[in-house]
Amino acid sequence: MTQDEMKQKVAEAALEYVRAGTIVGVGTGSTANMFIDALAGMKGEILGAVASSEATAIRLAGHGIPVLDLNEALKQVDSLSVYVDGADEFDAERNLTKGGGGALTREKIVAAAAVQFVCIVDQSKQVEYLGAFPLPIEVIPMAQELLMGAVVKLGGRPVLREGFITDNGNIIIDVHGLRITDARGMEDHLNSIPGVVSNGIFSHQGADIVLMATPEGVEKL
Ligand code: A5P
Repeated sequence: MTQDEMKQKVAEAALEYVRAGTIVGVGTGSTANMFIDALAGMKGEILGAVASSEATAIRLAGHGIPVLDLNEALKQVDSLSVYVDGADEFDAERNLTKGGGGALTREKIVAAAAVQFVCIVDQSKQVEYLGAFPLPIEVIPMAQELLMGAVVKLGGRPVLREGFITDNGNIIIDVHGLRITDARGMEDHLNSIPGVVSNGIFSHQGADIVLMATPEGVEKL
């Protein structure tokens, strides 16, 4: 089975967590795109979807799925029923690295608004410790050098994501070379640096369920 076929299978498996009559949070990336395509088959059953990026909003709308602004959605319901998204890495505690597509801040916000986070990945994303995938940090441009200096002190190698501006008008610094043994502590520490909007460690907003595709089928972790 190819990686794309595995992504397809796990995206379809996530439909089981979509409940009729609710608002669904939708992630960003190639696996999330396959989920959106699968969700189109249920568009008549849900109230709508909240998108974690402009790209996701466009794809949802292309399928005729109603796209709701998060603030409007939370005036209608107490919370989103589920947030479905991919990840760049996940560990045994279901901590995640996200933001390879640069949408980490909105992803974290929408995940926080949902009762349940279902993470859809293929087995290549499973790690013992986060950090092999360069950790994205969204930063207000003025704080670029300040953040880079702080990251070097942590043993990381910060690299500006060239030519990339987030949906929120900020920059992304990708941090190479970290071995993150305390995901929660590192998430909190990075968030304490002035100018950081958010970082790609999802420990506070870790997955409740990881659906992992393997060549043998989809495993629930
Ligand atoms: C987007 O910003 C990311 O958080 C994605 O969820 C992550 O990069 C996974 O993307 P793929 O499903 O394309 O691997």
